[in-house]
Amino acid sequence: GPRVFSGIQPTADSFHLGNYLGALRHWIRLQDDHHAFYCIVDMHAITVEHDPVALRERTYRSAAQLIAMGLDPQRSTLFAQSQVPAHAELAWVLNCITGLGEARRMTQFKDKSAKGGLEQASVGLLTYPMLMAADILLYQTEAVPVGEDQRQHLELTRDLAQRFNTRFGETFTVPAPLIISDTAKIVDLQEPTIKMSKSASSPKGIIDVLDDPKAAAKKIRSAVTDSDAEVRFDRESKPGVSNLLTIYAALTGRKVDEIAGQYEGQGYGAFKVDLSEIVADFVAPLRERTDTLLADRAELDAILRDGAAAAREVASTTLATVYDRVGFIGQR
Ligand code: TYM
Repeated sequence: GPRVFSGIQPTADSFHLGNYLGALRHWIRLQDDHHAFYCIVDMHAITVEHDPVALRERTYRSAAQLIAMGLDPQRSTLFAQSQVPAHAELAWVLNCITGLGEARRMTQFKDKSAKGGLEQASVGLLTYPMLMAADILLYQTEAVPVGEDQRQHLELTRDLAQRFNTRFGETFTVPAPLIISDTAKIVDLQEPTIKMSKSASSPKGIIDVLDDPKAAAKKIRSAVTDSDAEVRFDRESKPGVSNLLTIYAALTGRKVDEIAGQYEGQGYGAFKVDLSEIVADFVAPLRERTDTLLADRAELDAILRDGAAAAREVASTTLATVYDRVGFIGQR
């Protein structure tokens, strides 16, 4: 099947519902008829200050959560980025064909460096997008399932692929973003104008996939809506309710309009109670499955090692071509 690649940062103890609905459920769906590479991007995770002990733990937790959600390491190649040196090696080459101005204009760099000021930001934060481009391009990827916040990175990846191909000869497949718009931006439950995210959301604004089911249900019941008590999809004027409808539809496989119709004239009460149960049922098995997988660290290690070996084979072929094209003398 066609090649897909995607990545996720191991920067928290649990993935959140935005990660799942915007990206991870597509990862799982795509493994049926695609050749899929899924990567825990631990090298991206050190572009901001981090704790080494927590990083190692979270890398394993990430693998365990992905498998608990349905990622099948027999069908998909699952590995950690740092296990495949070609990612860093290709990133260097891509850094050398990226303009400094081009890198500085990336939204994520501007946002993250704005916090502590340019002097405080790491150079790794600046070169983050080129490492991400390397991730994708090493596997001759055709499609990249991600949420809306990754669109600009995907555009840069395409630009760099085309630039390299033009300058040095056809080398890379130019990848297409796979952004499924209905769930591409799940918003914060308390502040429905911002996306659900670990860095910006309060604990009440975010559903963690490893949340206790009762706690998750409570967060849904206390989600911010609006005062007109009508269950109707309208992102502009009803962002809170629309977000809940989006979550409801995605977790049940039903249509937003049909769900809105079901609760017509009933206010938000029953709607929220039903959704709180749907969300609780979704998270309920994930913590236990994840804990079971985490208990056998040797098995997780073996899964990631096998994944990395398979990934290295594909990645090293692409890297060898790149090295040859740019004029390196090769390793023999
Ligand atoms: P990360 O780790 O922040 O997020 C993982 C995935 O979850 C999606 N996502 C969301 N989708 C919908 N609503 C939300 N509120 C929401 N929050 C997060 C993200 O869009 C992403 O798909 N730079 C990437 C990791 C990465 C990568 C790659 C991705 C590194 N190399 C190569 C694809 C291909 C990131 O930080 O994602």
